[in-house]
Amino acid sequence: MSMPKREYLLYGQEFKADPFPIYARMREDDPICYHVGITGENSLWFVSRYEDVQTVLREHRRFVKNWRSTRTPEELAKLQPASELTQLLDHHMLNADGADHARLRSLVNKVFTTKMINQQREQIQSIADRLIDDVAAHGEMDLIDDFAFPLPIVVIAQILGIPPEDRDRFRAWSNAFVTPTLSEAEWQEAAVLLTQFVAYLRQLFDERRRSPKDDLITGLLQAEEDGQRLNEQELFAMVILLITAGHETTVNLIGNAMRALFAHPDQMTKLREEPSLIGNAVEEFLRYDGPVDRATMRFAAEDTELGGFTIRRGETIVPLLISANRDPRAFDNPDDLDITRQPGKHLGFGFGVHYCVGAPLARMEGAIAINTLLRRLPNLRLTAEISALEWSIVPLFHGTSHLPVKWDE
Ligand code: HEM
Repeated sequence: MSMPKREYLLYGQEFKADPFPIYARMREDDPICYHVGITGENSLWFVSRYEDVQTVLREHRRFVKNWRSTRTPEELAKLQPASELTQLLDHHMLNADGADHARLRSLVNKVFTTKMINQQREQIQSIADRLIDDVAAHGEMDLIDDFAFPLPIVVIAQILGIPPEDRDRFRAWSNAFVTPTLSEAEWQEAAVLLTQFVAYLRQLFDERRRSPKDDLITGLLQAEEDGQRLNEQELFAMVILLITAGHETTVNLIGNAMRALFAHPDQMTKLREEPSLIGNAVEEFLRYDGPVDRATMRFAAEDTELGGFTIRRGETIVPLLISANRDPRAFDNPDDLDITRQPGKHLGFGFGVHYCVGAPLARMEGAIAINTLLRRLPNLRLTAEISALEWSIVPLFHGTSHLPVKWDE
């Protein structure tokens, strides 16, 4: 099949503010779309229909995560060795395939269980209440900066078992490496903080080895599968992945859900009047305006065919999750927000072997956060035009950087 002739502008504020019309056109005209990078390199295959996105995520042997495994030994030999810090950041389960991935995932699953998450309910509620207590009397806040951004950091610190006296330092470190770095100088700054964080974690690991506690770090240190444990590097990568993978995603779940409610006052009234709808509503928010624009890249393990196109070994495939979730082939009236619909099969948490490990935690944080905002802040309203909001420019994510709101005191 020939390459698509049409071009799609898939970056910039205008696209980020409303990617759905462009994704709808891609789904109709170029569902498997080869996109040449700005420099002529880094070309990508964008996949926009629900069924094709699901296929790419399901067929994890054909579409792999570890790009190194798609290169020949000669190709690998030509590459520059990665820095120690990059290795530490990259060697985690979301970049692993096959047995390596299964081992890392089963180790974290032993401790990051639904039961453990359920035990966090009261703690998460009190963290959400404390954040609201801090601002309640002001009558206004930035819902992202003052509420959605700190919430997942404080929650994960608690679950990991970061001692209360270290929480401020932990928050500063986490802020640094969940904030995207655009320039070399910013990356250098983040690298310094990351190195400090690794030194801090090393001490904490030693402490927990000496005197175990009922927390996730102790659980990860003790988790064992077929006599194997996580090595030191895998432990660092795992902790950092849990912090980063669970951050902007959860921030955007809260921010996008609230923006959707501001734009649909009837749905907001319904949820206010019946807070028990929240479980279902969170699924609909994840479908309607999901926090993650696209899954992380996949690489063709061998030359392969998808939707009539040949994808060559090593080429990159990008499954567009928020497009799949608006595909009329998969959902009735996909552009309508309906918190009572059953959007169970949405792909907001991905699909297949890399399906989000943190989904139960994210669902709980989202549900508590949204219901707490609606319950505690009467007549909560947005004070900016939705069209004037600034969007995160990170391609992976879909959400605004700020959300100014007011309420009646
Ligand atoms: C609303 C919030 C969240 C959303 C929308 C979300 C979404 C996703 C998605 C789409 C993937 C799959 C990526 C891919 O296949 O390329 C994923 C994987 C993952 N998520 Fe989440 N996530 C959220 C919250 C969290 C939280 C709170 C944690 C942990 C604290 C977490 C940890 C992970 C991990 C470790 C993986 C990798 C799993 C693997 O490779 O097997 N996520 N997430």
